[in-house]
Amino acid sequence: MGSASIVSSVAGRFEGKVAFITGGASGLGECTARLFARHHARVVVADVQDDKGRALCDELGPDVAFYVHCDVTSESDMERAVDAAVARYGKLDIMFSNAGIVGTVGRGIVDSEKLDFERVMAVNVTGAFLAIKHAARVMVPARQGSIVINASDASVMGGFSPLAYTCSKHAVVGLMRSAAAELGGYRIRANCVSPHGVATPMGMTGTGMNEEEMEAFIEKTGNLKGVILKAEDVAAAVAYLAGDEARYVSGVNLLVDGGFSVTKRLE
Ligand SMILES: NC(=O)c1ccc[n+]([C@@H]2O[C@H](COP(=O)([O-])OP(=O)(O)OC[C@H]3O[C@@H](n4cnc5c(N)ncnc54)[C@H](O)[C@@H]3O)[C@@H](O)[C@H]2O)c1
Repeated sequence: MGSASIVSSVAGRFEGKVAFITGGASGLGECTARLFARHHARVVVADVQDDKGRALCDELGPDVAFYVHCDVTSESDMERAVDAAVARYGKLDIMFSNAGIVGTVGRGIVDSEKLDFERVMAVNVTGAFLAIKHAARVMVPARQGSIVINASDASVMGGFSPLAYTCSKHAVVGLMRSAAAELGGYRIRANCVSPHGVATPMGMTGTGMNEEEMEAFIEKTGNLKGVILKAEDVAAAVAYLAGDEARYVSGVNLLVDGGFSVTKRLE
């Protein structure tokens, strides 16, 4: 593709593209589904919240989106869901591996429970592994594709998120780098997006705060003042990584954290 076609792709920048989003029924996945759809992609929303996922797809319209039940920890669910996407739309261009859970919050290492650790690793890491594996299964023969994994600024720092969550987000960067290395030969890119806190249902888990309080807290404790990170900001970063504007960008963990991870605040 030449530079003229990159520029002309911006208006309907996902025209003709098929995007699969795990955890697409809520929060950052839902917002990204809406953005992709606005830019003319066809979107497959894969989640375990069936009512929410179906309602979103109904709203986006049957020609634009469809919902598929998919527990990302189940390989048979993932295999079926990716096959359903290809059967419906003929191909898969973009995999946004986004489903995630935070697990139990507010416990130190000694009080952490093995079951909680394993559950977080299953959804966040095994789920991302299966998403990448089954995306690659259909992208490799097509010799093209773009994979984006939703990590977190907890992928590069310890201490402000629960241990299991932090561990899982470090791990998905390893998955992404392995995929970028192995799949580059097939013109498939892999990247992570790593947001700071956003007041989604997951982002507010265990905080006891409402959305407004959560956003005020994130602004107060964050590095960039006077700006509140919104789901739309994360969706815009995902769209950049997923789309042709980033056609030579692979192996990147794109922090969307206002500089939080590179600062040490003294107050
Ligand atoms: N909100 C934040 O502050 C924040 C910050 C950094 C990274 N993230 C990451 O963003 C991603 C999305 O989180 P969010 O904030 O939008 O939360 P959310 O709770 O709004 O959305 C997560 C979605 O994942 C789905 N999900 C959970 N377990 C699943 C499973 N086993 N199979 C399929 N779907 C499943 C949920 O049903 C939900 O729809 C997560 O990976 C999270 O770690 C969030």
